[in-house]
Amino acid sequence: MDLHLRDRSVIVLAGTSGLGLGAAESLVKEGATVTVCSRDGQRLDDALRHLESIDGGDVRAVRCDITDRKQIGRLIEETVESVGGIDHIVASTGGVPPGGLDELDDRDWYQAYDLLMMSLVWTIDAAKAYLIESPGGSITVITSTSVREPIVGLTLSNAVRRGVIGLVKSAARELAPDVRVNAVLPSAFDTPRIQELIDNAVESGTHPDEETAMADWIDDIPLNRLGRPTELGDMIAVLTSDRAGFVTGACLPVDGGRLRS
Ligand SMILES: NC(=O)c1ccc[n+]([C@@H]2O[C@H](COP(=O)([O-])OP(=O)(O)OC[C@H]3O[C@@H](n4cnc5c(N)ncnc54)[C@H](OP(=O)(O)O)[C@@H]3O)[C@@H](O)[C@H]2O)c1
Repeated sequence: MDLHLRDRSVIVLAGTSGLGLGAAESLVKEGATVTVCSRDGQRLDDALRHLESIDGGDVRAVRCDITDRKQIGRLIEETVESVGGIDHIVASTGGVPPGGLDELDDRDWYQAYDLLMMSLVWTIDAAKAYLIESPGGSITVITSTSVREPIVGLTLSNAVRRGVIGLVKSAARELAPDVRVNAVLPSAFDTPRIQELIDNAVESGTHPDEETAMADWIDDIPLNRLGRPTELGDMIAVLTSDRAGFVTGACLPVDGGRLRS
């Protein structure tokens, strides 16, 4: 199926690793002009080299910390200047610290809010006019199955991401009919983030070793394995494209069956 994404301009926030990079990979394969951003220079170089090695669209990598409103504004304006517009946004983020209420302080809460919620608020604000101008503009937000069924030990994610879904649902109505806004809900995918959570589980003593911690994630997934980032990326490419032209305000699990409801 042709997704008609050739030469469409897509920004992938936090797109140099894991799920963001998987989305960028799927979009480049569809011929889109993809701008990925993140903070670390080496990660940006590696992602650029990797994406350029894939047959398909053009790629740019731009340094941007998505917890800084000014840097998001610059990313949007520079993308418009160099590519000519913005048709789609795919919004990933970094992960927030694991832990329960007793392990988190105010700073953790405010930082998680800036990273997960305000980054999206600032991006919508800066990009809205260009997305409205585009025929078939869309925003696809990467969240987590934690928005539907909280995950033990990930209190920040469980709490703040629910607010992100409220923002997705509100923006879908406010930006309709010009821009579609959707969320995907991944379970556990094979990325550096899941390894970070496994290392943390072993360090904090909730699991005796890596194997047990990994088994805990996988046992909760009926398809009995971690997802591959491009399996999420391919779903994001469809949601991003006009092929999903009647889909907005949707929260789509891509979870190997983890969610029970
Ligand atoms: N992997 C999973 O199984 C899974 C499941 C459900 C939800 N999630 C969530 O999905 C998101 C992505 O996860 P992932 O597995 O792709 O993580 P990852 O592999 O660790 O990648 C995180 C990406 O975010 C970038 N980043 C972090 N902070 C940033 C900032 N302030 N500004 C700009 N870029 C930033 C990182 O690059 P720099 O360090 O260079 O900035 C990196 O490219 C996370 O919120 C995670 O909690 C993941």
